[in-house]
Amino acid sequence: MNKPISLVILISGNGSNLQAIIDAINNKQLNATITAVISNNPNAYGLQRANNAMLTTKILNQQDYASKDEFDIALLKLLKLYQPDLIILAGFMRILSDVIVTTFKGKMLNIHPALLPKYPGLGTYKRVLESGDKEHGTTVHYVTEELDGGPIIAQSKTMILSSDTPESLKNRVQKLEHQLYPYIIQLISEKKLNYTPQGVVFEGKLLHNQGLSIQF
Ligand code: GRF
Repeated sequence: MNKPISLVILISGNGSNLQAIIDAINNKQLNATITAVISNNPNAYGLQRANNAMLTTKILNQQDYASKDEFDIALLKLLKLYQPDLIILAGFMRILSDVIVTTFKGKMLNIHPALLPKYPGLGTYKRVLESGDKEHGTTVHYVTEELDGGPIIAQSKTMILSSDTPESLKNRVQKLEHQLYPYIIQLISEKKLNYTPQGVVFEGKLLHNQGLSIQF
């Protein structure tokens, strides 16, 4: 087996995506090690999940820093110290400064609860239900300076039901996220997926704008 890919995972809240990655590693579906879990929120439930899995945790509480710049410098220092193969944003509710994004270009992934480029930003479930769209889903993408705007790696979709509420839709989309994120990280660890300045390459072919479409 190849050397496990090393991950640093950034969270702010519940950490269900973190949990899905931990579970996938334990079930041997994902050949990875989690070097550290970093949270900007000391009360994030995800920290408890990380502790339960005996992972190294670091809290960077934004209140301890005089400015956003100082917080970002501390985060950059920490990420440089760990030198992970990939930085995984998993519900990290903070916009990263350009210097962090550029330093780790092609090494930082995010998961967003919408079929990007539709619905960047917050409140995607409510917004999509108000729009009358027929489908919703989740996107894994590389992180660039543009919010929720980097090259798309893959999407997973669900049909919107007439009975859906933001909560019910969220439950279905999150189930997809929990499968999609570990799956994509594994493809990267197997070197089947690569970031290039031209875009995302899968098995030697440049992917189109929406990336891989993966149904579970
Ligand atoms: C996920 O739905 C993800 O798409 C978004 O934030 C949410 C985080 O959930 N970026 P969790 O903390 O992983 O449970």
